[in-house]
Amino acid sequence: MWDEIIKSRLDSNGSLRFPVYLSSAFNLPEGERYRYSRENNPTVEELARVISLTEGSESTTCFSSGMAAISSTFMSVLKPGTKLLMGSDCFARTYNLAQKVFRQWGVETCFTDPGMDSLLSVNFKPDVIFTETISNPLTRFYDQSVIRSHFGDETVIIADSTLSTAFNYNSLHEGADVSLQSLSKFASGHNDAIGGSASGNSKIIGNIDQMRRNLGGSMDPLTAFLVKRGMETLPIRMERINKNALEISRRLSESPQVENVYYPMLDSHPDYGNTSKKLSGGGGIVTFILKNEINNFTEHLSKLRKIPRANTLGGIETGISHPVSMSHRSLLPDEMKRLGINEKMLRLSVGIEDIEYIWNDLQLIL
Ligand SMILES: Cc1ncc(COP(=O)(O)O)c(C=O)c1O
Repeated sequence: MWDEIIKSRLDSNGSLRFPVYLSSAFNLPEGERYRYSRENNPTVEELARVISLTEGSESTTCFSSGMAAISSTFMSVLKPGTKLLMGSDCFARTYNLAQKVFRQWGVETCFTDPGMDSLLSVNFKPDVIFTETISNPLTRFYDQSVIRSHFGDETVIIADSTLSTAFNYNSLHEGADVSLQSLSKFASGHNDAIGGSASGNSKIIGNIDQMRRNLGGSMDPLTAFLVKRGMETLPIRMERINKNALEISRRLSESPQVENVYYPMLDSHPDYGNTSKKLSGGGGIVTFILKNEINNFTEHLSKLRKIPRANTLGGIETGISHPVSMSHRSLLPDEMKRLGINEKMLRLSVGIEDIEYIWNDLQLIL
């Protein structure tokens, strides 16, 4: 299957790469299948075909961002009175969307503390469950097969698989109904595209796809071309990223300047018993807590010579972020506390560089 993603579907001219159909509309009746590019576009569909291969899904629909995929999926499966159960340790925008928008529209939402134990012990019978397979930034592991067997077949299970990718963990095979991705991260992998996807069976994705068309968060064909090109190297990038991130997390754990390290494949990780069995790799996110107080993180991180400070993750180049002032800045102090996010926390997205290149630079901030 991973070899299949390298091969493009040949177009009528036999070009080795599937072309970018930069056309907003198509001539009818020849364009009967393609009418208008917000609805569907051949290049975007070609990307969806490749994503379905990797996810092992019947169907996939692509979006202009990961958040467009998440919001359209929520709009499609939630209605007033729906009971939504969510792990609170998720991307801050997803949390805000559920907490500030959907709650106000009458969705009964219950957020649990980080980790599967809290999710499984909740006194709430959900219609829909949303978790990140590997959560951002705590890297807790939400095993979809355990969620499925605990909550049963009636519950709609949505997994955000952005941090694990289907290469390290297949959410749909494990029991999720929908696997969502921010394609802006590991999937595209080069920090040059913003996109999202939803994969699953044809019925559920058909409904989400209709919502995409209604809301208009469709992917453009140039982005589809870039994401697809990135995905063709996902296996080799992830192999290298898994290896680098594990080594960096081990070295950080041994550093006297570091208080704690969160990486799914470290035996000190709270979910290690399960991650070591279920994940083929821990992915690229290594979150750690420094021992000493730092007065000004912007100044402190500017000591780095090679690693950029960036509000994203999943690229071939290593990047670092300070969740309190960057990715999770919109959360209230109490919400951060519940998630265990504090001032001294840093989140590394480990890339494919030589390990010493990354490690030598990190020394400057330890
Ligand atoms: C786990 C996760 N899901 C979704 C998103 C949102 O994706 P996008 O930035 O493509 O809208 C992010 C962004 O960082 C993320 O980390």
